[in-house]
Amino acid sequence: MAVVVPFSPADATIERLVELVNADMGRVNSEILSRTGSEVTMIPEVANHLISSGGKRLRPMLTLATARLNGYSGDGHIKLAAAVEFMHTATLLHDDVVDQSDMRRGRPAARKVWGNEASVLVGDFLLGQAFKMMVEVGSLRALEILSSAAAVIAEGEVMQLGAAKNTATTEDEYLAVIRAKTAELFAAACEVGPVLTQRSKAEAAACRSFGMNLGIAFQLVDDALDYGGKAAKLGKNTGDDFREGKITLPVVLSFRRGSESERAFWTQTLEKGEVSDSDFETAVGLMIKHRALEDTIKRAQHYGAIARDALALYPASEMKQALEEAVEFCTARTH
Ligand code: IPE
Ligand code: IPE
Ligand code: MG
Ligand code: MG
Repeated sequence: MAVVVPFSPADATIERLVELVNADMGRVNSEILSRTGSEVTMIPEVANHLISSGGKRLRPMLTLATARLNGYSGDGHIKLAAAVEFMHTATLLHDDVVDQSDMRRGRPAARKVWGNEASVLVGDFLLGQAFKMMVEVGSLRALEILSSAAAVIAEGEVMQLGAAKNTATTEDEYLAVIRAKTAELFAAACEVGPVLTQRSKAEAAACRSFGMNLGIAFQLVDDALDYGGKAAKLGKNTGDDFREGKITLPVVLSFRRGSESERAFWTQTLEKGEVSDSDFETAVGLMIKHRALEDTIKRAQHYGAIARDALALYPASEMKQALEEAVEFCTARTH
């Protein structure tokens, strides 16, 4: 389908951030690889299938960047960043089981190769390894932030189960879900950076707010891409949310703005699960008609602006600029 979400600016990149954290990121990657080992051979097989297929590594980069932004010069941020990426990887393994997704990072989802049971259990292994790394760093506050995040992410995924197939879901309820399932980890990833430096509470709060609002923007764009993106670029299938009856903002807006017969379409497909081959295309058509994808991106840009402003208390620096550009990237991304 030739529909593309209307993003701008088209050339936004995270190159500056990638460059600035490059040396640290090399150490994070070594840490990640060394922690997937187990005598139970299926564990490294499953973990490395997902880890070696890449991913943007956005969350660990944010931990490294916020630590540096706050003048940190120790080593703790490396293990914390690796722990953050492990938490993310674990949630992806679990999420693909919950969502019955077939593709992840351009490859068959682990659950398609090794089954749901192995995916859940290897996710648990990675979570365990993440907590071991946090303990090694020795910051009780960082441990508190990341362990709270792990609980909140699970709450968000369960909250989402409750909202599934319910077209009466409000935008507020949807926002509560994405704050929990996605933005909380971005917030925690950014907050542990300044926490390592024992800076004032104001800096930790600023970085947390940056991460939280960036995370909301990130998920809003992700939800628009599930209808208007391209699977080949995304490395995951589009239409997953529709087929599952997941209620995301493009649906909330289209349903509310739709005519009675359009609402009947959403109820039939999302609530009753009666989906025919051409329904996804119809759904995207209704979203375009009601500007639902455009407005989802506009909402993302709004949260992106809040994220940018959260960093205003920091003096100008290349790292600050890199983080600001990361916001642009997240709201303009197509993968
Ligand atoms: C996917 O996150 C899960 C969401 C929160 C939408 P990413 O898009 O950051 O996944 P990778 O790590 O780059 O594959
Ligand atoms: C993202 O959920 C958040 C988590 C993985 C916890 P989604 O289900 O929206 O993300 P994708 O589309 O599978 O990457
Ligand atoms: Mg999913
Ligand atoms: Mg999604």
